[in-house]
Amino acid sequence: MPRMITGIKPTGRPHLGNYLGMIRPALDLARSAGAGDGAPLFFVPDYHALTITPPPAELRAAVLDLTATLIAFGLDPDRDILYRQSDLPEVCELTWILGCTCAKGLLNRAHAYKAAVADNLAHGRQADHGIGFGVYSYPVLMAADILLHRAAAVPVGRDQRQHVEIARDVAESFNRAYGPVLVVPEPVVDERMMTVPGLDGRKMSKSYGNQLALAAPPDEIRRWVSRIVTDSRPPAEPKEPDTILALYRGVAPDAEARDLERRYRTGGVGYAEAKALLADAIERLVGPARERHAELMADPAGLRDILARGAGRARESAAGTIAAVRAATGLGWA
Ligand code: ADP
Ligand code: TRP
Repeated sequence: MPRMITGIKPTGRPHLGNYLGMIRPALDLARSAGAGDGAPLFFVPDYHALTITPPPAELRAAVLDLTATLIAFGLDPDRDILYRQSDLPEVCELTWILGCTCAKGLLNRAHAYKAAVADNLAHGRQADHGIGFGVYSYPVLMAADILLHRAAAVPVGRDQRQHVEIARDVAESFNRAYGPVLVVPEPVVDERMMTVPGLDGRKMSKSYGNQLALAAPPDEIRRWVSRIVTDSRPPAEPKEPDTILALYRGVAPDAEARDLERRYRTGGVGYAEAKALLADAIERLVGPARERHAELMADPAGLRDILARGAGRARESAAGTIAAVRAATGLGWA
């Protein structure tokens, strides 16, 4: 199995979409072939989070929250390498070097940047109004995260696929200029859970405010599920696949999901019952992790210690690539 790496940004509380779309598939991949060619890498990209200039205390709290979340859901900090991005400043050096062989036009095509430009133009503003260089160069930093460890497999949610494709292009243009130094990575996207819907049926996302926090207690889960928008068909009438069913497929065991799917098709299940089933299945999935998360959060020094150990292992993992890149480019003395 090729080496894997993934990261999840410390902005806001992690939600069910993050878990189903990215955290669970990444943990499954990490467990699927043991250590493979080196321990799987997970990190918390706090440099990336600076694009929205969060208050410093909030950023640090979010780093700890994500660290605890990943462990609560099954990351093993003794086997996997779990670190905070800013404990590995080598990534900034590599970002600069990669930026020198990366075409600017490649970054013009990144979805997030294009969306920001489109929004400006739609509001009659200048194309680049208010868009920071951090937002623009975000994909190069992300490429550096991946290439620094010679990772080949990058499990991400669907909306991050393009960023990993940019990382491929960035690696290839460096290799064209300097020889085959960098490993060209591949995105790994879980086809079952490509886009987890939120309350209103749109993609579950912090930006839409339609998300369910992973740490939500049972009554918050029930209240959230009760607010999922449905049509007004009575129980006996057949139903179209909807948000309830899509989420149920993600959180319930396969046989139970197939059963609800059949009852949707044939009629014989009301939305109230379907919502109750969904709330129970979410609780079964996240309940045990919520308790573990609370225990971990009660010991921030323990979490910081885990990150410090991870940082040491991550720097070891990065050292060979940085040395090879420096040698290939003529930086430092041979
Ligand atoms: P948000 O959209 O809430 O800001 P992020 O962009 O921080 O979420 O996403 C972190 C990770 O979780 C990414 O790999 C992303 O692809 C995945 N992800 C986020 N929301 C969803 C979703 N609704 N469905 C599937 N994957 C998701
Ligand atoms: N851009 C990712 C997100 O917004 C987070 C991220 C940063 C990442 N660097 C990465 C993911 C490297 C995978 C690999 O969710």
